[in-house]
Amino acid sequence: MAITEDEFKYCMGAWPSGVTIVTSRHGEKIHGMTVSDFTGASLCPPLAVVMCNRDSITTGMIADGKCFGVNILAANQHELSNRFASKKFEHIRFEGVDYDTAETGAPLIRGAVANLDCRLDATHEVGDHLIYVGLIQSARVESGDPLVYWKGRYRGLEADSSGEEG
Ligand SMILES: Cc1cc2nc3c(=O)[nH]c(=O)nc-3n(C[C@H](O)[C@H](O)[C@H](O)COP(=O)(O)O)c2cc1C
Repeated sequence: MAITEDEFKYCMGAWPSGVTIVTSRHGEKIHGMTVSDFTGASLCPPLAVVMCNRDSITTGMIADGKCFGVNILAANQHELSNRFASKKFEHIRFEGVDYDTAETGAPLIRGAVANLDCRLDATHEVGDHLIYVGLIQSARVESGDPLVYWKGRYRGLEADSSGEEG
């Protein structure tokens, strides 16, 4: 018998991850959402993958725009993470956010510890998510610590950045 959704979420919470904002562009429209399911996938060719819920707006924009940017958030960017995860702020996610436009057109957020610009290379269906494989066009790395997510809370690398116990 398969495990329940809650059991799965609880178990996955034990896996610490970085936090990214995955962005895309289709024509004049840009969008983005918070994504922790990101990893590098191949060195040669350089490929990265992100796992995107089929229902998310960003997911549809990546399919249409055939590109995505991955912005690996810095430790002080947890508010951006919340904004890009919240439906309440869906229409104002980029308001006041400094970003550059990558070669593909995807927004690359400034202040992130790293940015990747990807051209959509392949799409794989996996249950209620899509795995997007991107051919990396360019990468930029800045100094600073990354934001970490573990057991439903944002963390720093060495201590809980919120100052609370998990
Ligand atoms: C820490 C964190 C990690 C998340 N990781 C993912 C993820 O890997 N894939 C995904 O599809 N949604 C993920 N989400 C949820 C989306 O950010 C959220 O559903 C968002 O509102 C989708 O926005 P959109 O429909 O406007 O694209 C995550 C949310 C948080 C807070």
